[in-house]
Amino acid sequence: MRYLTFALGKGRLAKQTLAAFEKIGITCQEMKDKDTRKLIFVNEELKLKFFLAKGPDVPTYVEYGAADIGVVGKDTILEEGRNIYEVLDLGFGKCRMCVCGPKEAGELLKHQELIRVATKYPRIAKDYFYNKKRQTVEIIKLNGSIELAPIVGLSEVIVDIVETGSTLRENGLGVLEEICPLSARMVVNQVSMKMENERISKLIYDLREILP
Ligand code: PRP
Repeated sequence: MRYLTFALGKGRLAKQTLAAFEKIGITCQEMKDKDTRKLIFVNEELKLKFFLAKGPDVPTYVEYGAADIGVVGKDTILEEGRNIYEVLDLGFGKCRMCVCGPKEAGELLKHQELIRVATKYPRIAKDYFYNKKRQTVEIIKLNGSIELAPIVGLSEVIVDIVETGSTLRENGLGVLEEICPLSARMVVNQVSMKMENERISKLIYDLREILP
């Protein structure tokens, strides 16, 4: 039996993923050691390997087959546009991709104005404005703290993730339009899905049983 390799997006999602895996009997003791500098963890008994990667890199590892399976947010899947199978909604990490800004900017969205949109997700923003709304906009790529953009006058609106909404509220901004719901998803390499179908199908089946 060969190893099945998992790429997990670093941070909150990885923790929740490991908790879900534990419930179906998949554990990785090595990974729990907080002081470790190791990058890859092995469960010899089950022939599984796990590694943590930056979220946006997870679909890349999975497309190229460096990982058979990945767990990553739907936002990253949409933004990266990789050739991978999305096989399961894990139901955690729930949030929304939204167009946000000050209330007044709502008018600019209604009247097809040429506005500036700041975002960490240019592909999602382009698809939404060009293909769905048919509104020409200028998209400005940022790498974080996106809410700053309309406050300091870089853009009229932003496209960003909203979870609790408190970042928006505390900065005098709000949701203007909702683009799509998001959550953590399991993704699979297209060749692995064929070659390791039995093991991967069992994993999906077991996870479905314990998901809320
Ligand atoms: C995300 C997102 C929002 C915030 C939304 O940012 O970009 O800023 O969380 O959460 P809330 O609705 O619960 O306030 P993150 O903390 O990942 O950091 P970033 O600004 O560097 O992207």
